[in-house]
Amino acid sequence: MINIAIDGPSGAGKSTVAKLIAAKLGITYLDTGAMYRACALYAVRNGVSVSDEDAVEKLLPNINISFSGEGDGKKVLLNGEDVSSAIREHSVSKAASDISKLRCVRDFLVAQQRKIAAETDVVLDGRDITSNVLPHAKYKFFLTASADVRAERRYKELIARGAQVEYDKIKADIIDRDKNDSSRAYAPLVLTPDSTLIDSGDMSAEEVADFIISRVNADI
Ligand code: DC
Repeated sequence: MINIAIDGPSGAGKSTVAKLIAAKLGITYLDTGAMYRACALYAVRNGVSVSDEDAVEKLLPNINISFSGEGDGKKVLLNGEDVSSAIREHSVSKAASDISKLRCVRDFLVAQQRKIAAETDVVLDGRDITSNVLPHAKYKFFLTASADVRAERRYKELIARGAQVEYDKIKADIIDRDKNDSSRAYAPLVLTPDSTLIDSGDMSAEEVADFIISRVNADI
C-alpha cells in the first residue's frame, strides 16, 4: 500500500496539496480533520459540550462518518447527511480543535484512519498522522508556512467568497488554533525527526505536490 502522511498547522495548504497528490497518483485522499469536524458538529447539534469527555464518549457509537465522490466534489457524510459545508463553519473549527483533545475521540477516529490506510493507497493529512496514526509510513511530510502567510491565504480565500472578515482576527484565530493543536497532552502536532519539513511560503500547491510525488516516484 502507498501511504503518504502529511501533518502541519491550520492553513498550511495541506488539503489542497493532498487533493492534488491524490488526483495525480490516482489514489484516495483522506481528510482526517473533516472527521474531527464531523464529531464536533454532532456534539454541538446534540447540545453536548465538546469538553465534557464522558458525555462525548456516549455519543461516539451514534457517529458514522463516511465520504462519497472524488476530487473537489468529494463529500463528507455524517450518518448519511452531507455536512461538507456545515463542518467548515467558524464555530465548528474551534469546536473541532477542542474535541480533538479528547482521548476517546482520537482513539475512535484513529482506529478508522488506520483501517483505511491498511486497505487503501491513500494520502492523509492532519496533525498526528506522522507521529501517531501511521508512525511507520514510508512517506512523511510536515507542511508549514509562517502565520502571516497562512492568515493572508485564508483572508484572500474568504474575501473571494464574498465574506466580510478582518485580517487581524483571522491571524489571531490561526495562532490560537496552532497553540491548541500543538499543546494538547495527547497526540499533539509535532514535527517528527523522520518527516521532511516543507515550508510552503514561497511554493505553490502544485510545486509542493510535485515535490512530494517526486519522492514517492523515486522509490517506485
Ligand atoms: O485540518 P482541520 O483544520 O480541518 O482540522 C480541524 C481540527 O481537528 C484541528 O484544529 C485539529 C484537529 N485534528 C487533529 O487533532 N488531528 C488530525 N489528524 C486532524 C485534525
